Amino acid sequence: MTALDATPTRAAGAGATLEFVTIHGSWQRAARGAMLLGDDGTAQPSIFAEMSALAAATGAINLGQGFPDEDGPAEVLEAARQAITDGVNQYPPGRGIPVLREAIAGHQARWYGIHVDPEREVLVTAGATEALTATILALTEPGDEVVVFEPFYDLYGAVVELAGAKLVTVPLVAPHFESDLDALGAAVTDRTRLILVNSPHNPTGTVFGRETLELVVALAERYDAIIVTDEVYEHLTFGVEHVPVASLPGAAERTVTISSAAKTFSVTGWKIGWVIARPALIDAILSVKQFLSYVNGAPFQPAIAVGLDLPDAFFVDAAATLQAKRDLLIAGLTTAGFATSTPAGAYFIVADAAPLGRVFGEAGDAANFCRELPALAGVVAVPVTAFVRPEHRPQYASLVRFAFCKRVDVLEEAVARLGRLAR
Ligand SMILES: Cc1ncc(COP(=O)(O)O)c(C=O)c1O
Repeated sequence: MTALDATPTRAAGAGATLEFVTIHGSWQRAARGAMLLGDDGTAQPSIFAEMSALAAATGAINLGQGFPDEDGPAEVLEAARQAITDGVNQYPPGRGIPVLREAIAGHQARWYGIHVDPEREVLVTAGATEALTATILALTEPGDEVVVFEPFYDLYGAVVELAGAKLVTVPLVAPHFESDLDALGAAVTDRTRLILVNSPHNPTGTVFGRETLELVVALAERYDAIIVTDEVYEHLTFGVEHVPVASLPGAAERTVTISSAAKTFSVTGWKIGWVIARPALIDAILSVKQFLSYVNGAPFQPAIAVGLDLPDAFFVDAAATLQAKRDLLIAGLTTAGFATSTPAGAYFIVADAAPLGRVFGEAGDAANFCRELPALAGVVAVPVTAFVRPEHRPQYASLVRFAFCKRVDVLEEAVARLGRLAR
């Protein structure tokens, strides 16, 4: 068999082009892991791409994708402009510029009492995306198991499959999306290599409490697994405390902490993330990371150092502003007839569309409902099933994720439009 299978997978006729030919390679594992490999062996567009295109085509308000529509702190933006002017435009050091690594270490000490060596225990990456990818590729062997809570961020499935490892899921059940500790205990075995904990959690907004996190640590110790955390929403919690796993007794030795500037400073396009772990783990992850991006974002690195050093008030206010937006959208969704959950963190509300009855549709399928929502109400959202493996989708079939990281006037307009569903 060649790299290009000569047999077109669809009846493409004489004008067959590459897109009609099966391309062999490990991309198929990545697509399958992200639940985007079609039955015919082709890559399907993600629901986010489909829904964003729908929003653009219909003029609907896009509450599907989780990116803010307002700029972050002026000091941070100005620092990036200044860095470009000052000529900070060439490859930065492989581990990230010292001033940013020191700011990341200082941030961990200030907020969580975690003390790390900026020289050997911090690695700057191209967003949390690269941090997660490099970590999973670096620390797993084919056949190893990676335990995650489900629904899960699509990247986890893609990279775990790319690595030849196996994703094992622990369900978070509506309406509260708490973890079942027995299910967690049963999922971790001596085949488990990584336990990946995303808290605050996308898409459910769950902020895992100490009991769950302590069990994660105990299980990791018992089975000699490594804990990987995805804490990109660490500062966006509403009245509850974010507890980094690495702050728990005994955890720091075996925890890889991952975070990012994207959500905290509303700079999702800058792609500055980081990894914090013991030196041997950082060295292992760096061995892969250096051949993914090598380095990134030279002028953005000093700017994020400025951001991390901002006074406490900035972080507290950002969470309070977002909480008010959450409450605005919850009220609107409730008035429109959805049953909503109240997320304790992150950017998203999971709403159950089943109570909408006929408007939701006979099929009882949130993916179809989301395709119709622009016509019904001029709003775009995404089905939670996009974050769930096909065999588990029935339990999540009526759930829809709405992002509330948008301007207040945009949310108000969305709420007014969603009100049409109630009529
Ligand atoms: C849970 C989670 N992890 C990671 C990322 C990616 O972070 P970054 O933009 O820093 O790569 C996102 C972005 O939406 C996310 O929601």
